[in-house]
Amino acid sequence: MRDMGWAIVTGASGGMGAAFTRALAQRGHRVLAVARSAERIARVAADVKKNGGLVETLAVDLASAAGVAAVVDRARALGDIELLVNNAGLSTSGHFLQQSPEREIESIHVNVEALYTLTRRIVPAMVARKHGGILNIASIVAFQAIPYWTTYAATKAFVLAFGEGLSYELRDSGVRVVTVCPGFTRTGLYADTGVPGLAGRKSCALPSLRMTRGAWFASSG
Ligand SMILES: NC(=O)c1ccc[n+]([C@@H]2O[C@H](COP(=O)([O-])OP(=O)(O)OC[C@H]3O[C@@H](n4cnc5c(N)ncnc54)[C@H](OP(=O)(O)O)[C@@H]3O)[C@@H](O)[C@H]2O)c1
Repeated sequence: MRDMGWAIVTGASGGMGAAFTRALAQRGHRVLAVARSAERIARVAADVKKNGGLVETLAVDLASAAGVAAVVDRARALGDIELLVNNAGLSTSGHFLQQSPEREIESIHVNVEALYTLTRRIVPAMVARKHGGILNIASIVAFQAIPYWTTYAATKAFVLAFGEGLSYELRDSGVRVVTVCPGFTRTGLYADTGVPGLAGRKSCALPSLRMTRGAWFASSG
């Protein structure tokens, strides 16, 4: 199989990140799979290796600056990064005043700050060699305010606006920036949010994508 170079996938321990990890490995990428749960990313990695793929794992908390710095350090040690998939994310839902501020701030750290910092640290080398890609996972909720999903929707509005702006700025650089806006997909995301019908299932297939307004929409299978 042709070597497609290193891809970094955050949130690779389940849901869409595990699906991206498997799909990219199948396409010939060496994958650095990042998430908090060492045990769950090891399971994904074992599956990838069984199918002949090449994967390394890194168990870090992307809500912490140290965790994000560990990914940047590992990326430098690996060499050229062809693709960064900023997929890790978490959602809160319900009345704003009933949310745990700590959990909502954690979501801002992971959904916004980690995505920004990884992009900021990894893109310059891509631009220098005029090749690479960033895939940011926003959401259908990125397009307007969503009461009772107020903070989550606001984090995803950042991801979409950031991705669209960066895509334009880098249009002649050889680096592609693509933002995916999935609709509801049965993963672990809603396991603890109580959204009816979405809790419980933790696996997903890669969604099919369609382009609209410079962003990609995903419809889940
Ligand atoms: N499911 C949907 O309907 C839907 C719709 C639109 C957008 N999205 C977005 O799609 C992306 C993937 O979510 P998913 O649906 O696949 O949910 P998921 O199954 O819950 O996966 C989320 C991933 O993020 C990782 N993660 C969470 N907090 C982390 C932290 N502090 N540090 C490192 N990794 C962390 C989790 O791993 P650990 O727990 O092991 O750390 C897990 O691998 C998210 O950005 C989500 O917002 C999902």
